[in-house]
Amino acid sequence: MKIKVSAPGKLMLLGEHAVVYGYPCIAMAVDKRLYVTAEIIDSKGDETIAPQVKESRFVLEAIAKFKEKYNIKQSVRIRTNGDFSHNVGLGSSSAVTVATFKAISEIFNKSLSLREIFDLSYEVNLKIQGVGSGFDLAAATFGGTLYFIRGGKVIEPLGNETLPLVVGYSGTKADTPFYVRKVAETFKRRQTEIKDILRKIEALVISGKKNILNRDYKNLGKCLTENHLLLQKLGVSIPKLDAMVEAANKAGAWGAKLSGAGGGDCMTALVSNDKRTAVEEAIKKVGGEIINVTNNAEGVRIDQ
Ligand code: MEV
Repeated sequence: MKIKVSAPGKLMLLGEHAVVYGYPCIAMAVDKRLYVTAEIIDSKGDETIAPQVKESRFVLEAIAKFKEKYNIKQSVRIRTNGDFSHNVGLGSSSAVTVATFKAISEIFNKSLSLREIFDLSYEVNLKIQGVGSGFDLAAATFGGTLYFIRGGKVIEPLGNETLPLVVGYSGTKADTPFYVRKVAETFKRRQTEIKDILRKIEALVISGKKNILNRDYKNLGKCLTENHLLLQKLGVSIPKLDAMVEAANKAGAWGAKLSGAGGGDCMTALVSNDKRTAVEEAIKKVGGEIINVTNNAEGVRIDQ
């Protein structure tokens, strides 16, 4: 038996870094997917062919964890392909982990709930990376737009609206663990100041949530820009991302910010239809690459 499963990539709309400290964030699943084909094989060891993921360890750990949980001795082969590579920061490791759990649970007839898939994936993620809130795994598992608290303490869907987003890639890959540690080190030295920034980010996430539910994109845009300024204060932005955010705002976006750990990857802007082309051109002019994605993608699913 062979099965094909897919899980979506992610983008962070509001609240990165603060979410690592127990504050909420807003995460989005995007319509670029990572596909996993799984089959049981007659071999001594498991096999993975996973060119889209930086580390096939995520796949191997997921298989090992699953086999241990159900005391399974047979071997599996996992192949991946995808709409995106690990370079752009859309979360290929999280999507592949979630998709692997779903795929192998199907071929071994163990029906894991979405919550179980998330929890198992989070354990794999913590084992390999040691840090991380798990927001990317929640987006890959549940899809849509989510209000999220670390470890899945809260995972709340925020309706089914497609947000008017423009996404620009900075051209460099972000090193998430590096930036998470960087904030942690600054936190140790300047606790009061950093706590104040994180609380301000929390307030923006709470306003942002209301704005999403009310479809008030103008005010949601303001939350994005203010969040970007706070991320600058945290020391995680870089001149290229700042230039892209500034260009988007100057060209008439409702607001813009970096998305993710900082240091590279993507930025995102909220724009009205009549400003979309101008904003995209402005981002390109400062060296950004427009990535064609929309939010509100379906979570992990069986494709074949
Ligand atoms: C990275 O995309 C977002 C961070 O908040 C880390 C995390 O939540 O795991 C910096």
